[in-house]
Amino acid sequence: MIEYKTEVWSVDKKMDEEKEYPQITQASLWIKKNEVVAFPTETVYGLGGNALSDEAIEKIFRAKGRPSDNPLIVHIASTEQLEGIVASIPERAKKLMDAFWPGPLTLVLPKGEDVAGRVTAGLSTVAVRMPDHPVAMKLIKECGLPLAAPSANVSGRPSPTTAQHVYEDLKGRIPGILDGGATGVGVESTVVDCTAETLVILRPGGVTKEQLEEVAGETSMDPGLLNEKEAPKSPGMKYTHYAPDAPLYLVDGSPAFLQELVDKQKEAGRKIGVLTSEENASFYQADTIIPCGSREKLESVAHHLYDALRAFNESDVDIIYGEVFPKKGVGAAIMNRLEKSAGGQIIKE
Ligand code: TXA
Ligand code: MG
Repeated sequence: MIEYKTEVWSVDKKMDEEKEYPQITQASLWIKKNEVVAFPTETVYGLGGNALSDEAIEKIFRAKGRPSDNPLIVHIASTEQLEGIVASIPERAKKLMDAFWPGPLTLVLPKGEDVAGRVTAGLSTVAVRMPDHPVAMKLIKECGLPLAAPSANVSGRPSPTTAQHVYEDLKGRIPGILDGGATGVGVESTVVDCTAETLVILRPGGVTKEQLEEVAGETSMDPGLLNEKEAPKSPGMKYTHYAPDAPLYLVDGSPAFLQELVDKQKEAGRKIGVLTSEENASFYQADTIIPCGSREKLESVAHHLYDALRAFNESDVDIIYGEVFPKKGVGAAIMNRLEKSAGGQIIKE
């Protein structure tokens, strides 16, 4: 693989639509040469490349070490760009676009002819979204191309919510990173399949099931998300993901029960980390205690989650115990990611 001198281009996200930004011009020049650059979105940082070029897509997979059977999301800045990317747009999908775009919602639609074959990993559908971030929007407009972009992490690691996270993972592997500060939502977009009879959530995310139902009627969760025995419909959901270096166990019980688990391990000489809500942080005694937002405001947990998971890698803990959160609203996305980081290991009181 080519070694790049990974540049970091800072852009204040309070941007003036009309102005020229040399940092963004720089990034778009790389993209037009079928190279790949990282950029911020409202969910997590993406690693973008020309969605019409197999050469560019190959570079995305290589930089991330991503399994090639896991398709990418195509990012657009206007609905006109959907021409050639999708083959048709069902009425329900139009309603969702009107209500949630730009925003953290990805729609799976029948694939159009122009999309590079490698983007969809051979599927007859394509995932598309319009990100709600001025830097992302300006970049897409400036290069005039739809951008295929997975999260800008090395495959398996927690998704990046700052340019620093991207740098840790992809330094030397890509020419540059547009740094627009910390992302907002903190977990990835909701992926919804619009090609079936009713809407199906393939990956819970920033837009909740309740919000989708209000706009477009009956919406179900992919059974593969709820039941270990069913294969998930979204190829990406079958992989271990979002994992810190030390093994994570989720603890479905009281803080006192979690502390007992910590104490037992400490007796055996192990160093223990605890991933907690702000409310319970002062209760625990462990080697590294990382609070990741408030139970009263699950959006704050989503916002801090990946940074918290990455922060354990700075400590030398042997095991991490994590609290569980209610699965309502954005809690469904939080628990989906936590269950993946824990590889499904949950200890019940
Ligand atoms: O918020 C996000 O969605 C971020 C930002 C950068 O936009 N992107 C992101 O991409 O999370 P990635 O590649 O990490 O996750 C894409 C997910 C994977 O689970 C993939 O399997 C699924 O979307 N996906 C993509 N195309 C699909 C398709 N045609 N059918 C079903 N699932 C698809
Ligand atoms: Mg990802």
